[in-house]
Amino acid sequence: MIKKNHELSDKRTLNRLGGGIERINKHHQQGKLTARERIILLLDEETFEEIGAFVEHRSSSFGLDHQKIPGDGVVTGFGKIHGRLVYVYAQDFTVLGGSLSETHAAKICRIMDLALKNGAPIIGLNDSGGARIQEGVVSLSGYSEIFFRNTRASGVVPQLSLIMGPCAGGAVYSPALTDFVFMVEDTSYMFVTGPNVVKTVTHEEVSSEDLGGAKTHAERSGVNHFVAGNDVECLKKARTLLTYLPQNAYEDAPKPSVFEFSPEKLERIETVLPSNNGLPYDCRRVLECLVDDHSFFEVQEDYARNIVIGFARMEGRTIGIVANQPAELAGVLDINASRKGARFVRFCDSFNIPLLIIEDVPGFLPGTDQEWNGIITHGAKLLYAFAEATVPRITVITRKAYGGAYCVMNSKSLGADLSFAWPTAEIAVMGAKGAAEIIFRKDILSATDTEKKWKEKEAEYADTFANPYRAAERGIVDDVIFPRETREKLLRGFSMLEKKAENLPLKKHGNIPL
Ligand code: HXC
Repeated sequence: MIKKNHELSDKRTLNRLGGGIERINKHHQQGKLTARERIILLLDEETFEEIGAFVEHRSSSFGLDHQKIPGDGVVTGFGKIHGRLVYVYAQDFTVLGGSLSETHAAKICRIMDLALKNGAPIIGLNDSGGARIQEGVVSLSGYSEIFFRNTRASGVVPQLSLIMGPCAGGAVYSPALTDFVFMVEDTSYMFVTGPNVVKTVTHEEVSSEDLGGAKTHAERSGVNHFVAGNDVECLKKARTLLTYLPQNAYEDAPKPSVFEFSPEKLERIETVLPSNNGLPYDCRRVLECLVDDHSFFEVQEDYARNIVIGFARMEGRTIGIVANQPAELAGVLDINASRKGARFVRFCDSFNIPLLIIEDVPGFLPGTDQEWNGIITHGAKLLYAFAEATVPRITVITRKAYGGAYCVMNSKSLGADLSFAWPTAEIAVMGAKGAAEIIFRKDILSATDTEKKWKEKEAEYADTFANPYRAAERGIVDDVIFPRETREKLLRGFSMLEKKAENLPLKKHGNIPL
């Protein structure tokens, strides 16, 4: 018995060394933690239970039969984060570059299957050279098995991908199918084809970092949602995100009973909007005055900055926020903002997270670039996402709500459960200047002083529509409220909507304009 136990201990030690001390040292020198170190930091202390530690690949081509390392380059299992169950896999770059073999894929699929059956989040720590080249098509097939499960799990359990090393080729598509992608600055990258292929095909010279580094995907492509300075920060961010999320689509998000709200914010909110309605301001200053102290957790901070999205808490309860950002491009809606907003709305709707929409939008961004790249289809995504959402939805119009953008931003007729406007709200088809030019053109042109007439007519249109009361008279907004009343109105509104039950017409699934 003792001998057998020793044998097991030895095997475990070997298993924990992955690709060996030398490779681990090299990995550390690059500023990266090993797969096991990452898992330990990600999970609550002493909660990790490994599954499949002894699994080995079955390949013999190209000398692989002499390179069998228990675990086959991926550590898989389950554990707890803030006391709640999660499933995790971490690719071990020290074993054949963390490359994905048939068995490596099978291990990932096994924990995905368990996560789906048991209704808990799946977290992938990706650090891999892609498909195991020596294995050929079976490793590709392994990827497809994972993609299939990512898709089936979508909207059932939250899926997080932490990119902590290379992620190239088709391997990027598993993260892309998941809900949130994290990247580490300087040590992680994602691209379908690397710099060498790019150079051969398009003759462009580009570094890995510029092509697919954390900053590139945060600012230009919107592929990632969170960026961290190093592995430790990345793992901490993932833990924080999970505090806002339910375990699955059938449960509520955790609701801490202790929360703080500084009463001075009720006064501060009255001073956020500039006196001149043409001036910019940071919408985060509004939303921070509405939610529990320090609870706003922004998503995709550096992408499409003209819209702000993120999670927050109100009296401990998770909400999702979508806010136009007047400090960036005056808060217009464009292609990227529409895509960013739409995906976030659909995530919140999938996981029963109520939505708060803070609206100050002058319209859609005009121009050939937007039209030729499909603002019609992309803008429709946001429309569709709001119209389809059955979670509680409350809109607060703080200032501008013009034209199609008014409709899109969770307007009452698009199914908002409650719609409030501040006294500063302007709800109209378009700004007064443009409106006067179109509907009073004849009057203006026939006047002796056209400039004066134009100003007069502009003022007339503004008097009529640049306020919230025409909309309130029609019930298109439910109430006009002081900024300082807003938090209380929202708390009562969300509480009233807590048991909201709304079913979509029976169908296989809708056809969102992709
Ligand atoms: C087998 C691999 C491997 C792979 C790396 N290794 N990638 N083994 N299959 N895909 C091994 C190396 O041979 C080496 O083994 C060890 O991992 C570390 O690799 P290095 O090259 O020494 O590391 P580094 O210099 O840091 O470079 C990392 C890298 C590079 C940039 C990821 O290894 C690389 O370019 N690998 C190939 C990437 C790739 O083209 N993958 C296929 C993508 S296509 P030793 O024994 O020396 O330690 C794909 C299709 C998926 O994935 C399709 C899904 C639909």
